[in-house]
Amino acid sequence: MSLTDRADELWESERRLTAIGRTSLSVPARQAIVDQQIRPNSSVLDYGCGRGGDVRALREVTSNVEGWDPHYLPDGNRRLSDVVLLTYVLNVIEDPDERCRTLLRAWELTKETLVVATRLVWEKSKLKGTGFRDGVLTSRRTFQHLFSAGELRSYVEDATGVRCVSAAPGIVYAFKRDEARLSYLARRIAPSAIWLTSDDAASAIASVVDYTERRGRVPRVEEMPTQMAELLAHLNTAELQRIVRVSADPEKVAEGAKRSTLTTLLFLGVELFNGRGPFGCLPLFVQLDVRAFFSSYKEACMRSDRLLLKLRDDAYVRGAMNGAKVGKITPTALYVHRRAIDHMPVVLRLYEHCASLAAGRPQEWTLAKLRHQGRGVSWLDYPEFDTDPHPRLRSSYMVDLTTLKTSHMSYEPSQNRPLLHRKHEFLHPADPDVPKYRRLTDSELRAGLYANPHLIGTEQGWEAELVRCGRQLRGHRLIKRN
Ligand SMILES: C[S@@+](CC[C@H](N)C(=O)[O-])C[C@H]1O[C@@H](n2cnc3c(N)ncnc32)[C@H](O)[C@@H]1O
Repeated sequence: MSLTDRADELWESERRLTAIGRTSLSVPARQAIVDQQIRPNSSVLDYGCGRGGDVRALREVTSNVEGWDPHYLPDGNRRLSDVVLLTYVLNVIEDPDERCRTLLRAWELTKETLVVATRLVWEKSKLKGTGFRDGVLTSRRTFQHLFSAGELRSYVEDATGVRCVSAAPGIVYAFKRDEARLSYLARRIAPSAIWLTSDDAASAIASVVDYTERRGRVPRVEEMPTQMAELLAHLNTAELQRIVRVSADPEKVAEGAKRSTLTTLLFLGVELFNGRGPFGCLPLFVQLDVRAFFSSYKEACMRSDRLLLKLRDDAYVRGAMNGAKVGKITPTALYVHRRAIDHMPVVLRLYEHCASLAAGRPQEWTLAKLRHQGRGVSWLDYPEFDTDPHPRLRSSYMVDLTTLKTSHMSYEPSQNRPLLHRKHEFLHPADPDVPKYRRLTDSELRAGLYANPHLIGTEQGWEAELVRCGRQLRGHRLIKRN
């Protein structure tokens, strides 16, 4: 074993003590599975695997997992793998040169996707210690360099020389092939197509008709699930197209085409923001959408570039927010529920996507807040939004798009958390919960509960107003106070 392989005697901090015993998958490993970076047949290397919790848990997903750790598993197999996990390693390395070398070593071992995760600056308050190099040395002599979300992405981009994407706060993906990055972006924007199940030729045709109506174009055989393509193998492309055209509802097809045109523009706008690749690198379904809904790729790119430029135009963004059929607009921002986010005008969807690529959208969020002065997006988490008539804010994560600075705020320890009123305003008007929420708002208005808006924004003020008005809540009903 060479000196560099067993270098833990040379470490200036107790790095081994940073490894925790995991009983379930770490957040980044779970994210990589959800994002289809780790699939059942992927080979995975957990580089700096600590006590090996992720290696064991990942073997439930794919049998092809190896781990290596300079302290815990120095004899592990550091082999070339489809996916390499480098999770919570960089932040414990006190030597900046070694930190960068470690990242590069993990990148060399990556065939497809490198997943880098670190602890983030918002955990600063949990960390006690003294300043050491570019971080903090704790009383146990463990070191932490906390990254900001933007810093992590640029750090990985600078070292690897490729465009990276923030999958979630503190989790960055670097892709070896641009096709893989673009497929990932496309999946974030337009989740995989849903096909009606089919077990004979007639139901397969019904499924293609349904797809055509939703997408606005007839699918190509290569886009279909294999079993469906086999059921339709007796038809040539022209015959299939003719059958579908006579069966599909033209109005639905036109609606589908409109939606797909906007989704393509959104994708190309996001792609420009993250780094545009050549047409041939785009996922097949995007290439086909471009051919079907635009006169050329050039035209599609020009339109999406204009859209991205519009994001700089305050009046345009403000106009889009005022005209949006969803969300609640305040003097500073538009607030939209997660379920309604795809109903926003395309420029606002682009706005939210750009922020999420730059800083990572958190896993748990309920409302997105899009500022109309300056450019910034916050994702607000109200875990009880559906059940609590006035849900309490648990946390918020904000990215400023002009500086790429992020901030996180947890309200969990607070005795007086901010809460929501008029829940229906955040949803799409057709959302099934809207009538129930609107009824509650109307009765609260009639009871005088909104007479002092400056008092009701937090738990204690709201409770005091309920008492003053002699009311209490039972589920989503307002009743007389006992
Ligand atoms: C906080 S633990 C993370 C372990 C594991 N990845 C996880 O998420 O559970 C940090 C690990 O990084 C390892 N480590 C320290 N320096 C390293 C280096 N230069 N290369 C690879 N791993 C290193 C340590 O031995 C330690 O097990």
